[in-house]
Amino acid sequence: ALSPQELEKQQAAAAAVRWVRDGMVLGLGTGTTSAHFIKQLGERVQAGLKVQGTATSLASEALARQLGIPLLEPRRGLTFDLAVDGADELDGQLRLIKGGGGALLREKTIETASRYLLVIADSSKVVPVLGRFPLPLEVVPFALPWVLDAVEKLGGAPVLRTHKDDSASPVYSDQRNFLVDCHFGQIPDAEGLAVRLKTIPGIVEHGLFMGLAKAAVVIQGGVAQVLKP
Ligand code: A5P
Repeated sequence: ALSPQELEKQQAAAAAVRWVRDGMVLGLGTGTTSAHFIKQLGERVQAGLKVQGTATSLASEALARQLGIPLLEPRRGLTFDLAVDGADELDGQLRLIKGGGGALLREKTIETASRYLLVIADSSKVVPVLGRFPLPLEVVPFALPWVLDAVEKLGGAPVLRTHKDDSASPVYSDQRNFLVDCHFGQIPDAEGLAVRLKTIPGIVEHGLFMGLAKAAVVIQGGVAQVLKP
C-alpha cells in the first residue's frame, strides 16, 4: 500500500494528467511525483492519447521510453505547451526550490521553454518561506572549493552531495557535475540570492525557480487544490 504522502503524489499526478490534451508537446519532470505523472500519462498514451515530450533527466527519459511516450530530442525552436514537474518546496507566490533529485539544470531549461509549468506536490512541500529544504546547486567539479567558500560568504552552509551508502563518493548530475546542498535557513529574498549565486563562477545553475510556475496542484486533506501565483 502507498504511504499517505505517496498517495498524495499519485493524486496530484492524476489531476495533472487531466490537463493534458491531444497533440500537446510536454515537458516531463523528474522525481517521485513526476514518475507518478509519467506512468499515468503512459497509460493514456497506450489508450490512444497523442502527445510528445522531452524529459528533464535520463531517469525520466528511460521511464517515458519504456512506457511508449514519444520523445523529442533538444533542438532549436522546440517549445512546450505544458511542463509538469514536482518541487521540493513552494511558497504562496509559487516560487520553488527544486533539485532534490539533481535534475535542476534540465528542469529549468525545459520549463523556461514551456508556455505553462504545472507543479504537482504533496501537502508537505508547501511552506510560508522558502529555505527549510537545502537549496541545490549544480557545480562544475573544478570550481567546487571556491564555490563552497563563496556560498559560505553569502551566509549559507554548503554540503557536497554524496551517495547515502558511501559518503566518499560524490553524486554526479546527468551533465557529470557535482551537486551542492546549501542550508541558508529562511530565504526571504529569493530573487536577491538568485542574482548573487549567478555571479559565482562554476555554479552552472541553482534550484530557485521564480516566475516559472503558472499553477500548482497540491493535495490537501485528500482534495486537489489548484494554487496560482
Ligand atoms: C528533481 O531535481 C527535483 O526538482 C524534483 O522535482 C523534486 O526533488 C521533487 O521530487 P519528489 O517529487 O520526489 O518529491
